[in-house]
Amino acid sequence: MQTIASSGLPAKTIFEWLLGLGVLLLAGRRLLLRLQLSRAKHRSLAGHARLGRLLARLVPQYEYDEARFFRADDAPEHIGEQRRAAFRRLAALYAQRFANTVRQTNEVQEEISDLQFTARYRVPFQFSRMVRQHLNSGSFVVSSSGPITTDLDGNQRYDLTGSYGVNVFGYDFYKECIEKGSARVRELGPVLGAYHPVVADNVHRLRALSGLDEISFHMSGTEAVMQAVRLARYHTRRRYLVRFCGAYHGWWGEVQPGVGNPVSERDTLTLKDIDERSLRVLRTRHDIACVLVNPVQALHPNAGAPADSTLVDSGQAAGFDRAAYTSWLQRLRKVCSDHGIVLIFDEVFLGFRLARGGAQEYFGVRADMLTYGKTVAGGLPIGVVCGRAHLMKRFREDRPADVCFARGTFNSHPYVMGAMSEFLQRLDTPEILNCYRDIDAVWDSRAAQLNERLRAAAVQVRVANLSSVWTVCYLQPSRYHWMFQYYLRAENLALSWVGTGRLIFSLDYTDADFAAVADRFVAAARQMQEDGWWWRGEALTHKAIRRRVLLEMVRARLHRPSDQSAGPPSGKAALGSKA
Ligand SMILES: Cc1ncc(COP(=O)(O)O)c(C=O)c1O
Repeated sequence: MQTIASSGLPAKTIFEWLLGLGVLLLAGRRLLLRLQLSRAKHRSLAGHARLGRLLARLVPQYEYDEARFFRADDAPEHIGEQRRAAFRRLAALYAQRFANTVRQTNEVQEEISDLQFTARYRVPFQFSRMVRQHLNSGSFVVSSSGPITTDLDGNQRYDLTGSYGVNVFGYDFYKECIEKGSARVRELGPVLGAYHPVVADNVHRLRALSGLDEISFHMSGTEAVMQAVRLARYHTRRRYLVRFCGAYHGWWGEVQPGVGNPVSERDTLTLKDIDERSLRVLRTRHDIACVLVNPVQALHPNAGAPADSTLVDSGQAAGFDRAAYTSWLQRLRKVCSDHGIVLIFDEVFLGFRLARGGAQEYFGVRADMLTYGKTVAGGLPIGVVCGRAHLMKRFREDRPADVCFARGTFNSHPYVMGAMSEFLQRLDTPEILNCYRDIDAVWDSRAAQLNERLRAAAVQVRVANLSSVWTVCYLQPSRYHWMFQYYLRAENLALSWVGTGRLIFSLDYTDADFAAVADRFVAAARQMQEDGWWWRGEALTHKAIRRRVLLEMVRARLHRPSDQSAGPPSGKAALGSKA
């Protein structure tokens, strides 16, 4: 037998020892990485995608009967009656004011999947049926002018939807971009594949704005994000994409793990935002291709985009600390640079809203790649990736068969490029440059004024803002905060389907427009208070509300509806007169 002279041990044994040691070290490292990853996860369900999805599947459908609907917080009977009367008044107002708009909406409701989904998820599901039946304001609008939209009944409403963020400079601006942009490319029409000459100027301008070398065009923000991540993986030859808890990056499966996506994400790590432990994960692992940042998270780190459907208790805390977020991005930038990780800013939502040069300029931190979308094509559908040259290449000089494929029939569509060309050229006009002057001071002071008025009105509602992106916060425990959106709509303020979770102002709001919005906002809050929805009992704490709802779910799951809390789904919810 072969031995090692000095020790006298058989070589095979030594080999086995070394192998064992190697396996042990490897297992130890894996364990360490796993532990670090666990510590870098946010404690909420949004931080634990798989668990979130699993629990979501267990939540049973149940809804409140009429008595419970008005007294889900165990308010005294007279408060329930007060709310019922107010609900009836609001229902009558909605029925009269939005009659044609609702009629047309109902005609197509069963034929448009999106409508069915959004209608269902405007409020917590236990309340949804009654609200759908009685507080529907319809989904059709026919015109816009300045910050005002008009529906089929001729109602004129201040638009706080921002068209999901597309509307940065006001609807009139986009109408002109589309009209003038179309005129530029009309001779060519919808020829695809070859480029209209406006593309060259668009590319030059986007390079200058982003400070990056190359550009690619796509059809939506979701696709732009897909392509940026795909390229980062291709060039780093690494597997994982890191996103931060709560951040939205479109509806592609890998950036949207957990609830809402039926497929398990395999190559995505969701880490805690603004947290040293996340940086430790980035430093230690060697398999992370890229980090995606959606800077709007600065307003509500680690929480998903706020929506009234999740206002089970008091929902969302929010607040923006520019210095803290800047420092976080700087630290993130350094770690990514040190470890060969591609830093991608997803500016689909915030690009051109905070500053002409977007979040990069606003926070003073540069990314390796960035995505634009929404507003950048002057109101037409778009996704753009800007990146460093070595990251944007879709082939390798030395490996001709190893390519990174990306196509898209409609990419660089002449009409989209025409409207983009108008948009980008107008960015440099004094009128638009003026919009950015003192932009934060303007919006911060408007938010502060409104908060002051809300304080003076003694209502427990406030707003928090990141420049012109706002969210409504509720200061006391209640089961009914979601009702506020219906009071706001009654004041002719247009909200998107997430209700008070996100208000997006266009920069063409004048002081007079804003004053009108503020008046209506305060009036809505006062009325809601007067109508008893914000009644506050001693026992009504956030914890008590959550515990109660959990118990209801467990009961409903076990098919044992309690005496009055969780009733079986009823037919048409009529509005009786007695609790
Ligand atoms: C930050 C961000 N990224 C990506 C997307 C997806 O863009 P789109 O809806 O155009 O696919 C959105 C949409 O809201 C977004 O806000």
